[in-house]
Amino acid sequence: MSSSLRGCTMRPPLMSKVSRLEPIFMATVAEHYKTHLAPVYLWMAGGFDAAVSRGEAEIETIFPSLAAGITAVDLGAGFGMHTIPLARRGCSVVAVDTSSILLDELRGHAGALPVRAVEDDFLSFQRHLDAKADLIFCMGDTLTHLPEQASVEMLFSLAAESLRPGGKFVTTFRDYTSPLVGQGRFIPVKSDADRILTCFLEYEPDYVNVHDVLHERVGSTWQLRVSAYRKLRLSPEWVSTALQAVGFSVRVEPGPGGMVRVVATSD
Ligand SMILES: C[S@@+](CC[C@H](N)C(=O)[O-])C[C@H]1O[C@@H](n2cnc3c(N)ncnc32)[C@H](O)[C@@H]1O
Repeated sequence: MSSSLRGCTMRPPLMSKVSRLEPIFMATVAEHYKTHLAPVYLWMAGGFDAAVSRGEAEIETIFPSLAAGITAVDLGAGFGMHTIPLARRGCSVVAVDTSSILLDELRGHAGALPVRAVEDDFLSFQRHLDAKADLIFCMGDTLTHLPEQASVEMLFSLAAESLRPGGKFVTTFRDYTSPLVGQGRFIPVKSDADRILTCFLEYEPDYVNVHDVLHERVGSTWQLRVSAYRKLRLSPEWVSTALQAVGFSVRVEPGPGGMVRVVATSD
């Protein structure tokens, strides 16, 4: 300490400010999508046609010879990135999501395709099935939106119960188990002349707090809105073991955009 500060009784200003900071409010997943992400989701995904083409290519990679007439369930279907290509290939699809905004987009594009879009928690998907399914999808990092590991295990056992023998459960998710550090936690997601979406990640032992930072141009100024929610930190090894525990044979492989893809086959 410098001699001029020795004996000084002033309260350190920085410390007093820090101790009064409120923790960032964590939205539920449904609130986060409703108020923040869903209205800009299609923009973030590069528009409907481009996103659905990517979904089509992904399905072609996993199932090069998908038979028409099979039944599929898309858990956390969003605007239909996988539902629409599955239905275009002749599958009957039950698409489940809690976001009415994204489901309205999906319904608007589904037209006469064999799609039933239902607004519900995807852990309750069984009540929307008339019979066992051939395929269950949970794509695009949706699995990590579940509230805890026990919910993921519950989903896997519901999927095992709901598939015909030989049916497939397919999921793609991000492996958040190795934390990004320092400036690497700030991820530029998408930007154009009028909007910038940046993601900031904050790690806890079992969760990652995802802060979606949205700048939107309003006239000659920028408006900032931030919303944060929690995602699970799931390792591919844990997911694979949990699927095997309920009777699936499991294949783990690289998925699109740095995600992990797990293809699980029902016995
Ligand atoms: C990251 S998006 C992925 C959307 C889509 N599967 C894709 O690949 O484009 C996650 C989706 O899951 C939905 N979602 C998250 N948790 C959910 C839950 N418990 N029940 C139903 N939908 C959920 C969100 O509303 C959102 O549409």
